[in-house]
Amino acid sequence: MDVKKVTSQMSLEEKAGLCSGYNFWYTKSIERLGVEGVMVSDGPHGLRKQATGGDHLGVNGSVEAVCFPTASAIASSFDRDLVKTMGEALGDECQAEEVAIILGPGVNIKRSPICGRNFEFLSEDPYLAAELATDYIKGVQSKNIGTSLKHFLANNQEHRRMSSSSDIDERTMREIYLAPFEGAVINAKPWTVMCSYNKINGVFASQNPRTLTDILRKEWGFNGYVVSDWGAVNDRVEALKAGLELEMPSSRGINDKRIVAAVKSGSLDEKILDRAVERILTVHNKYLENRVPEVGYDKEEHHQLARKVISESMVLLKNDGILPLNKSDDIAFIGKFAEKPRYQGGGSSHVNSFKVTSALEAVKGIKNITYAKGYDVKEDKIDDALIKEAIEVAKKAKVAVIFAGLPDSFESEGYDRSHMSLPSCQNRLIQEIAAVQPNTVVVLHNGSAVEMPWVNDVKGILELYLGGQNVGAATIDVLFGDVNPSGRLAETFPLKLEDNPSYLFYFGEKDTVEYREGIFVGYRYYDKKKLDVLFPFGHGLSYTTFDYSNLRTSADIIKDTDTLTVKVDVTNTGSVSGKEVVQLYVGDKVSSVIRPIKELKGFEKIDLTPGETKTVSFNLGKRAFAYYNTEIKDWHVETGEFDILIGKSSRDIVCKKTVTVESTVALPVVYTVNSSFADVMLNPKAMEVCRPLWNSVAALFKDENANDSDPAKAAIIEAMTASMVKVMPLRAAINFGDGSITHEQMNEILEKINKPH
Ligand code: BGC
Repeated sequence: MDVKKVTSQMSLEEKAGLCSGYNFWYTKSIERLGVEGVMVSDGPHGLRKQATGGDHLGVNGSVEAVCFPTASAIASSFDRDLVKTMGEALGDECQAEEVAIILGPGVNIKRSPICGRNFEFLSEDPYLAAELATDYIKGVQSKNIGTSLKHFLANNQEHRRMSSSSDIDERTMREIYLAPFEGAVINAKPWTVMCSYNKINGVFASQNPRTLTDILRKEWGFNGYVVSDWGAVNDRVEALKAGLELEMPSSRGINDKRIVAAVKSGSLDEKILDRAVERILTVHNKYLENRVPEVGYDKEEHHQLARKVISESMVLLKNDGILPLNKSDDIAFIGKFAEKPRYQGGGSSHVNSFKVTSALEAVKGIKNITYAKGYDVKEDKIDDALIKEAIEVAKKAKVAVIFAGLPDSFESEGYDRSHMSLPSCQNRLIQEIAAVQPNTVVVLHNGSAVEMPWVNDVKGILELYLGGQNVGAATIDVLFGDVNPSGRLAETFPLKLEDNPSYLFYFGEKDTVEYREGIFVGYRYYDKKKLDVLFPFGHGLSYTTFDYSNLRTSADIIKDTDTLTVKVDVTNTGSVSGKEVVQLYVGDKVSSVIRPIKELKGFEKIDLTPGETKTVSFNLGKRAFAYYNTEIKDWHVETGEFDILIGKSSRDIVCKKTVTVESTVALPVVYTVNSSFADVMLNPKAMEVCRPLWNSVAALFKDENANDSDPAKAAIIEAMTASMVKVMPLRAAINFGDGSITHEQMNEILEKINKPH
């Protein structure tokens, strides 16, 4: 299709109409010009194609599909290839179901563990989220199906999500909240981006020219179209001007008329409308010209893929030698979720799974297991009879495995949690079972971090997150050692909610949410505060052990324009095959800006047989060392030493090397009489010129103590003097000095140091 030609043949009304949905899920068609409408559907972890009765909260039914593990689960895989394979499968399902665009992935940062939608988001870390979103998008789009990277931007809570303003300073915005979108847009080129409901620093995301045009298109080169979250449009004309092409769902013609009126009145340039139409048609044509619905897909095959994905994503949090379980032992499964797992969250991502496999069902082929329900999920009520029955079953077995987690009502799209606890009936059950059965394992089904008051009372903990429709089979695979667990936490589990950095400000006040913790989100905060956590970012155990050695870099000193290659050898020192996630963090040792202790800048998942060694290699560019400098409005590396840290988790650093990075960018500096000596000292040449000023101030301190005969005391006083003078402004040489500096001399010095060196 010649998009420009077709657009030029459209009436004003047709063009305006094309910029909003035909109904809940379809875009409009214009028969006379051969323009076909397309269907879009949620996403992100399976298809929610609503053939009839559209809604955006997962209330009405949808066609049967495969529910894959949710984002918080797949992020724990730290496995780019696996996520890509899942994306390909989703692409095949879309082709078969004639859905042009799947509404995902979700890369909003997990600012707080209680965001109701965390299960749909990848991580607290922007680099990890960007990397995995990239592979999801590449996978789906390799099938000529579009993705919708969402929700752009700063949608980190459900509370008042359609009216609140996320107020975030520029550096935090760049380093934390924009970064996952930036990485995914640049690396994977999603066909569409979905704007969020909320405002960003007071301006609705749906009509924000800065984010939708300046940053997304001009800076990052986005060339698809922006779709509104369902119902996110506030002012249709302003939204179009700002860079929002498609409004979803249909506004029943109301907003189309507004666009027409604005063009007629001259308040909207028709060219902007033309451009939007062209962008929409260009994206849809990519799908329309490559449709293959006849190829279909094998649901059973995808059910098995869902099993593989979650078995490689679940995180073994604790293992005091209890796992893997011995197939010949008497084992009790306890807890409703063994029979009916919670494997997905509520809201728009809710998939109508064509089948669900529970752990109880999956274990049948392997051995007979005793079972007790233990609790109910309808309400959080301690049921003594259920607990008593569970205790009896647990006592008779060699091992008790408790299937616990959050019920649907505890977390969903549309609202946030108010606490981080499991239902009290489940906490009680776990405590009572652990009291009678020393060999207790807890298996968790939850979309986000929970508190674990019983952590020291059980021998094993396996985190499944919301593991998709075949989570039961995968759980059995891992529990009995057929699959060696290899997931790592993509978020920190704090000891308690109050430890979370956003705790004091989360939800905000009325419609204003200030992100006062700034860049200190997740491990960036816990590390800096040296806080104990329940389980750190990147943590996850294996049934084998790995050794790290021979960390080396391509150079000891590089320029910020160079690429540093980092290599490390990893050996499987245990007796079974296993996968290790090699994590690379970078820390700026000394910085004039406030920075995290370290940040994730690379990861690789490798498979090793017993005794095998592999070399893992990382390439680090400027961005790995940089922070966002708001003065120059760019990423900047400060000259100095950086730690290259290789970790098994963010709290288990196994190798370390220091390199020096030299900046090639001089920050603009203007010295005034009020610049401090400390500022000047950052430039040794300028400090040399200022030496007479320093001496004038320092002289005064010296005079007072001239008679001191104790050299140790004199040294202390000199050091104290230096510390005090450092933070004084240059003008102290005049009003606080020994009288040797005149105004004229001061001006001359300033002129000299302000000249480019
Ligand atoms: C959600 C989106 C979703 C859309 C369509 C909205 O409520 O925020 O993530 O894609 O509905 O269902």
